Amino acid sequence: MRKVGLGAIIASLALVLVLSGCGAKNKAAGNKDAAEPVKVYRFASDGTYPPMENMDKDKLVGFDIDFLAAVMEEAGLEYEVKNLGWDALLESVKQGKEYDAGISSITISDDRKKTYDFTIPYFESTNMILTKEGSDIKSAADLKGKKVAVQGATTGDKLMTGIMGEGNKNLKRFESNALALLELSSNGVDAVVADIAIVNEYVKNNPGKKFVGILDRTNFESEYYGIAFPKGSELKELLDPAIKTVLESDTYKEIYAKWIGGEPDMTTLLK
Ligand code: ARG
Repeated sequence: MRKVGLGAIIASLALVLVLSGCGAKNKAAGNKDAAEPVKVYRFASDGTYPPMENMDKDKLVGFDIDFLAAVMEEAGLEYEVKNLGWDALLESVKQGKEYDAGISSITISDDRKKTYDFTIPYFESTNMILTKEGSDIKSAADLKGKKVAVQGATTGDKLMTGIMGEGNKNLKRFESNALALLELSSNGVDAVVADIAIVNEYVKNNPGKKFVGILDRTNFESEYYGIAFPKGSELKELLDPAIKTVLESDTYKEIYAKWIGGEPDMTTLLK
């Protein structure tokens, strides 16, 4: 038989006492979860969409990243956000195993609502045409006979598929919007269709290259971004009120001024 020393018995007794004492204290403070590690929610993004989300060395930066920080602080939740790329982020948020949510200028659409839950809208956007100065493209309808680049599986892709027709080889789909922009830059296509903030940023950042952005409110309607969750996520309930508070705060306007410039039109967002 193994001999258990008196010292060991006393030590384990003391440990049991200390542990149960802790429990009692936490219960008294009403903090029943204190013994459990704090949950760190994992967000996925696609850091190739400046100024909304972009990589600065190995760090994600941009409007969405600052906005998420404000929302998570308001909600009192721990989180991390990683650059996954667009297709992988859509897939992994759907599965809800490795990632709890996606934030990536994701437009809330009826299509996507079949697969994801979304927060309330936090950003108003629209698709926009990017082309080169001197081009005869004036509206989305003019894109019909042209070569157009889009990021695949985006609302821009869907809209252009509608205009140019399914299976049209002149509609080129890229894995990232950065690659679509490169294709225009190297004259592989006549235009890119992407979200307004991204097109404006690209025109601004490439002054010598004579890019122009064209807004077509008839063909491209307003879209609203939401944070995407796997169906039934507890996060929706936790984040919606926090988003509302941030939308009503000066913080939202500051983040907007920093990344987009000027003042946001809050009429539809605060309705
Ligand atoms: N708003 C568009 C959509 O939801 C494009 C979003 C692309 N986002 C990105 N980070 N690449 O389809």
